[in-house]
Amino acid sequence: MSKNCAVLDSSIGKKVIMAITGALLFGFLLSHLAGNFLMFCGAEAYNNYSHALVSNPLIYVAEFFLAAVFLGHIINGIILTVRNKKARPVEYAMTQSLGEKSIASQTMIWSGLIVFYFLVIHLVTFKFGTDVSPASADGVRDIYSLVVARFSEKIYSIFYIMCMIMLGFHLSHAIQSLFRTLGLSQPKYLAIIKVLSILTGIGIAAGYCIFPIYFGFIK
Ligand code: HEM
Repeated sequence: MSKNCAVLDSSIGKKVIMAITGALLFGFLLSHLAGNFLMFCGAEAYNNYSHALVSNPLIYVAEFFLAAVFLGHIINGIILTVRNKKARPVEYAMTQSLGEKSIASQTMIWSGLIVFYFLVIHLVTFKFGTDVSPASADGVRDIYSLVVARFSEKIYSIFYIMCMIMLGFHLSHAIQSLFRTLGLSQPKYLAIIKVLSILTGIGIAAGYCIFPIYFGFIK
């Protein structure tokens, strides 16, 4: 194995890959959420925004990059979890009794896999789903009506909300872990980083939940 590959295969290398891919995914989450808010500006604004995105030739590069980042994060996350389990099959009694590890930190693989499952359903529903009304003459998909139709099915909205809570749970530990991996968490800032991480998780989950709550239960 070359020196570079050995670094990437080490647990530290894999943690750094998790941190970089996680940060990129977080950036994607923020921009996607900002775009979703155009739903409140009406069908035309949202459909035009979505059309501008998908008709840009660079979209193929962006989608390929995003898929690679997701896969890198997921595969590394699974490898790291399996390695950690093999290295320490039983938690130290001391750590358990002190309650040092939060539930979120111990269930990262499960919250992550639920987010991954959600992603597949999300793509099948919206990206590859059958539209509820035809595209306009100039080929603009009526994605707005598709989103409203899906969210008006309460069961779909509840599933969506539960998955977003899982995403928030994942992020509530992920952000603090990211700071630690990148060596940005000095002991005196640990408490504030922890609080910010939890608030970010809650904020992202709440932001994404606004849509199923509004279109599923209020409108
Ligand atoms: C948009 C969705 C996601 C975002 C924004 C995200 C973000 C992050 C971040 C920032 C970290 C901290 C990395 C570090 O320790 O420095 C992390 C950790 C982790 N993520 Fe994700 N993640 C997402 C989806 C997923 C998915 C789909 C999986 C599926 C397996 C996953 C599995 C994990 C695992 C297992 C860890 C802990 C790694 C470890 O410290 O041992 N994540 N995530």
